[in-house]
Amino acid sequence: MVLLSAIITVSDVHKAFGSLVVLNGIHVTFEEGKVTTVIGQSGTGKSVLFKTMIGIMKPDHGEIWYRDTSVTRLSDIELIELRRSFGYAFQGAALFDSMTVGENIAFPLREVLGIRDRNEQRRRVSEMLEWIGLPGIEGKFPAELSGGMRKRVGVARSLVTKPDVLLFDEPTTGLDPVLGETINDLVVRVNKELGLTCILITHDIQASFRISDKIAFLHEGRIAEEGPPKEVAESNHPMVKKFIENSFSLLEV
Ligand SMILES: Nc1ncnc2c1ncn2[C@@H]1O[C@H](COP(=O)(O)OP(=O)(O)OP(=O)(O)O)[C@@H](O)[C@H]1O
Ligand SMILES: [Mg+2]
Repeated sequence: MVLLSAIITVSDVHKAFGSLVVLNGIHVTFEEGKVTTVIGQSGTGKSVLFKTMIGIMKPDHGEIWYRDTSVTRLSDIELIELRRSFGYAFQGAALFDSMTVGENIAFPLREVLGIRDRNEQRRRVSEMLEWIGLPGIEGKFPAELSGGMRKRVGVARSLVTKPDVLLFDEPTTGLDPVLGETINDLVVRVNKELGLTCILITHDIQASFRISDKIAFLHEGRIAEEGPPKEVAESNHPMVKKFIENSFSLLEV
């Protein structure tokens, strides 16, 4: 029997901005060592949920657990400590344009882990670049790279601290399908080879169904459906059905 344990548990989370209720009682678990993807229409609060999970946005109500730590009850200092366990890239996250690729990837080593030793930084940066299939580009500036290369460097930057959990908001948005696949493949490798728990938000429904162990569908402030892709694909929830049908029918044109 395989025992699944939740690495992150979101319990009854509410978040509103003035009169705009965004999250209205979110319950969802993210299992250790698995790939879980949050999907849903634009503006439903996926990115807000993501931000509450790493503690950069406080929910109005409810709790978020990372293992047996309540993220929602931590002080700012404790949150900085906790974020060492997370590698994350925000929606539209950009590299620092004025820094080289090497400096970009070394940034969290210095700022998050406090590694000052230049040789150690260089060794780790070079290891990450090998890993994402772009060895030796330390000296290049982001402007000299293609969009797909920049995304991969972004992945390297979020992985260099060797986190337990990788959280990725829209990793493939704006990429052509082939580059999108490269990023999806990278997520699968990170999960399988490094054993990282991966939490994704994506509009790439087809890819999410292929690479995820679990899908959670966010609708009207709640998780309207969750489970393995096959189960979610067979959901009777009208909005989930419509959303998935539309996503897949686009591919049949
Ligand atoms: N800091 C904020 N202040 C006020 N409103 C906010 C803030 N952050 C998000 N919102 C609002 O919350 C709602 C949900 O936003 P969110 O970015 O989470 O959507 P999303 O599901 O990630 O959408 P998309 O798929 O387009 O990325 C939106 O209406 C947005 O305008
Ligand atoms: Mg978003």
